[in-house]
This record gives sequence, structure tokens and C-alpha cells, in this order.
Amino acid sequence: MTTYAPHPLYFDQGKRARVRDLDGRWYQDMLANYGALAHGHAHPALTRAVNDQISLGTALGGPSILQYQHAELLQAHVPALERVRYCNSGTEATMWALRTARAYTGRDIIVKIDGGYHGTHDWGHVSAFLSGGTPHRQFLPGLPPTHLAPGVPKTVLESVVTVPFNDAQAVADVLAQLQGRVAAVIVEPVLGVGGGVPARPGYLEQVRSLTADDAVVLIFDECATFRLGTWQVRHGVRPDLSTFSKIVGGGLPIGVFGGHTDIMSLFDPARPQPIYHASAFGGNSLSLAAGIAALETFQETEIAHLDRLGARLREGLDSAARDAGIVGSAVGEGGLSYFHFAATPPQNAADTVAAREGRDELRGLVHLNLLNEGFLTARHGLMCQHIVTTNTAVDSFVAAFADTLTLLRPYLADYHPDLLADQPARETAVPKPSIDGSGQ
Ligand SMILES: Cc1ncc(COP(=O)(O)O)c(C=O)c1O
Repeated sequence: MTTYAPHPLYFDQGKRARVRDLDGRWYQDMLANYGALAHGHAHPALTRAVNDQISLGTALGGPSILQYQHAELLQAHVPALERVRYCNSGTEATMWALRTARAYTGRDIIVKIDGGYHGTHDWGHVSAFLSGGTPHRQFLPGLPPTHLAPGVPKTVLESVVTVPFNDAQAVADVLAQLQGRVAAVIVEPVLGVGGGVPARPGYLEQVRSLTADDAVVLIFDECATFRLGTWQVRHGVRPDLSTFSKIVGGGLPIGVFGGHTDIMSLFDPARPQPIYHASAFGGNSLSLAAGIAALETFQETEIAHLDRLGARLREGLDSAARDAGIVGSAVGEGGLSYFHFAATPPQNAADTVAAREGRDELRGLVHLNLLNEGFLTARHGLMCQHIVTTNTAVDSFVAAFADTLTLLRPYLADYHPDLLADQPARETAVPKPSIDGSGQ
């Protein structure tokens, strides 16, 4: 959702790390289309690739050499991608990875992370952060309730189990109870919309070995973490399957899933009963041409730049909060950051929910004031940078954030005194007038 109160801004163009709204006002883009972009807007190499390709056709009804070129570049980034297939979005990529795991193992059950976001298909929209929905008892006893998004059939809960992020014991317990029945564990290595929570050291290593012990397919959803150069490469944990989208399409729709040859060979049309994977525009030439240009210009130097910008941003936000005497901290990894008004950084989605409880309006005010100061972020707190974002831009943003906190101190004193580090918390906060601060 890109809507927010009182009304979302509409944009008409972007250049480098700035976007312009319909009133002609430019904003420093600290959102990068919710992390889906990394090259800035209208990057010359990407624009050239798209312009050159569009005159040659976009989907010619057969395989194209661009698929191999893109796959080779992607494989150079991510060695675990022995074989890949193309679709049109992260939603499709994770849906296909799950189906592939089910076909490979002959098992039905998926274990996913509470608050993990994998797009909008039915299996992914169980306890997906921001998808809302009603609480339901899980079919395994002893697990916290899970949430089913409106419109997702209850039968999905017969084959999906959710466990808290950063809790390897929960995965161990579920796999022990469901021995031989789980097809896949799917996880975002940094819990994205669930609060930008990085995996604890050792957590995914443990999940790797637990899944291997019961021949469960481990899927890393790296749609958002490609901006780290992938989490799996950075931390040296090799999943069986991985999914990608966003940056690898260079600003155009794309989805990629892939991994072990023995799993992906289920798609081999020469075998009896291959998995049937069709997609009218999957692997289309335009997305691939843009994606090739994006991968060629997203190498170690660029990833390191994003890392440095992210670290600078988080340090800046932390010190802005400290200087303003406000409880809160920045979390995240590499060029993917969130700010939480909470005494301790969240470790899982339940912590993020608790940190946000009753603070929608506060987050809305921060977001709107940053817009007024000329910076685009997400209302839920996500901040992502482009490879063309400068240190100066990050420093200006931090200064605007510091101004925003100072401006909000009287409001916090009235409505959230517990967030003022230098004031004893009052017994009760002033009742809040109702201003709609909902939306993403
Ligand atoms: C980790 C992750 N997986 C999957 C998706 C879904 O991608 P798409 O919006 O392209 O369907 C997203 C999108 O935000 C994501 O962050």
C-alpha cells in the first residue's frame, strides 16, 4: 500500500536520487520505491538498455539470449543459483519456489516466519506483516496464533505453519513434530516490512542445518536483500532455493527463482511429467535488458557504497534520537534501514508490532514532517538509498529527522511521555485526539 492520510503524494518524475510531485516540488528519495530500486531514477545505462531493446521487440515468443546473459550475471553474484527461471514479480518467484519445493519433496507443509512478507499469493499472505487479517489457531499445538489475510481461504492453514523470526528452537520444534512432512522453510534473511530486523548471528546457520537434517528445502527470499549483495553471500549460508525481484530487473517487473540443479531439473521438459511453468511475459526482453544493465552496474563498489550510506544513516538517526532525548533506534543491515520508537530494537515481528502499538499517529507525523522538509520515506519507517545517493544527502536527511524529533517533543510529552528519555514517565498520557495515521 502506498496510501496514507491525509492523501498520498502523486509523482510525475524521478532523476537520480530525487523525485518530483505533481506540484513540481522535488524530494530527496530515501525510499527507492520501497527498496525495489538501487540505481536512482533514469540511470543512463538502464535507460539506454531499455531504449535500445524496445526497438528490437519485447517478447518474441521463445527463449532469448538475454535470459542466459542475465542468468550468468546473477550467478556471478550468487553462486548457489545453479539454475534459474524467470517470472514477473517477487510474488510469483516465491510462489514458484514454494511449489517447486513441494514438487521436489512430495510434501505439502510450508513453514514461514511470522511477519515475513513474500508477496501477495495465498501461501505468503499468512501472518504477513501489514496484510492484516484475523487471528487463527495453528494446526500444531503450542504455537502462537497466525493471521489470515482477508480473502485467503482457511484451507491454506492446513499446510502453512508460522514461527517467530530469530528463533531457531521454534523451527527445530516444528520440524521435529512434523518430521518428514515439511516441504520448505521460507525466510527473508532480514525481516523486511516486519521491521527491518536482521537475522541474529547463527540463526540462519542453525535453520540451514535443521532443514538439511530432514531434507526440507530451505528458501531464502532475497527479493529485498539483494541490495546487500545478497545475505547468503555476505554471511556464507547456502540455501537450496532463492528468490529475487526488484533491483535485478533494473526498474522493470521481474521475478527470479532458482538454486540446486537437482531441484530445478524438475522443470526439464525432457523428463516425464515436468513442472509446468508458463508466463506470457516471464523472462521478457525489456526487463532482462534493464536487469542486465542493473547487474553490470551493481558490483562490489556500489554495494559497499550502499552499506556505508546505511551505516551512516543508522548512526545519524541514533544520535539524533539521543540528542533529542527520545527513546528509539535505527535497525537494519546494509542499505536497508528502519527507525523504531522503542527502548530495545525488535528481534521479530511481534516486537515490531509492540513497538508500533498506539503509535500510528506519531509515525504519521514523522513521515509528513519529513515530506515537508523535502524527504521521501515510508510511513512504516523503511529507508533505502540509491547508489547515486551522497553522504551529504544522508546527512541532510539526518538533520531533518533531528528537527522533526525536536518539533515533536511537546507532542511526545503529551501523548507518549514514555518516549522521552530524560523525563520520568507520567502515570497516564493525555487521551489522544483521533487523527487517522493509518496506511503504509
Ligand atoms: C522479501 C520480499 N519478497 C517478495 C516480495 C514481493 O515482490 P513483488 O511486489 O514484486 O510481488 C517483496 C516485495 O516487497 C519482498 O520484499
